[in-house]
Amino acid sequence: NRHSESRTATPNPKTRVCGDGIPLRSVENCREMTIFVVSNIRTMNRIVAPSMLSADFGHLERDTQMVDRSAAEWVHIDVMDGVFVPNISFGFPVLKAIRKVTAKCLDVHLMIVEPERYVARFAEAGADIVTFHYEATYDPRGCIEMIRKAGAKAGVSIKPATSVEVLRDILPLVDLVLVMSVEPGFGGQSFIPASTGKIRALRAMARELGLQTIIEVDGGISSKNIAEVVKAGANVLVAGSAVFKSEDPAAEVALLQKLGNEAAQEA
Ligand code: DX5
Ligand code: ZN
Repeated sequence: NRHSESRTATPNPKTRVCGDGIPLRSVENCREMTIFVVSNIRTMNRIVAPSMLSADFGHLERDTQMVDRSAAEWVHIDVMDGVFVPNISFGFPVLKAIRKVTAKCLDVHLMIVEPERYVARFAEAGADIVTFHYEATYDPRGCIEMIRKAGAKAGVSIKPATSVEVLRDILPLVDLVLVMSVEPGFGGQSFIPASTGKIRALRAMARELGLQTIIEVDGGISSKNIAEVVKAGANVLVAGSAVFKSEDPAAEVALLQKLGNEAAQEA
């Protein structure tokens, strides 16, 4: 299909500038943008990823367009199955609807058991990054392979009680690690302070292994704690309620982006 063809296309110089903050509006170019963002993660700005879980589903197009026009580079999509977590969110139709409205990088966070059954379908439905939970599968390597084969970037996530040490063997195989800083399942919870130490330990492990793994932090992120997680080594900051419960969501994204970049300079 057309989307997967575009995934393998050679990035052309015109599309690559989007990583410098120039907005890109074509879904066909989305893949190239992701590659650009991922390959330049160290030198670039920190990335804010608003979580659509906190959007108004009655106005999904409006809220997606808001994110699309904002300083956010990624759109975070939380998929929950009611089994891995005690909540059910949404699946393929909603992902496809969001895909139609934005060319930004779709960052899909799967909170589902046996992710190997679905990872390829999420990539085909438009995910640029597919992240599964380490705790949800017996076959993390298989999941990573399937995601790659379907043309997306592969991420693995750990819950607050899971040690970063479990990731040592698979770290060279993934593009990204998502550190949960609340128990997965719901937006609007408070950041668990011990998450900062986990991010620091993960960054140290990646450095030790000679890897430039992208570290994403998810749960309870706001203007109050963004600097500390960036200084610990986080590159991508997910924010649900901080963005969508704000009076001016786009301004909140811009503020988080600014605070994130400032903290990165100081780190
Ligand atoms: C929770 C989700 C998060 C959530 C974040 O299970 O993975 O992405 O939407 O929401 P806030 O930023 O409100 O904690
Ligand atoms: Zn999430």
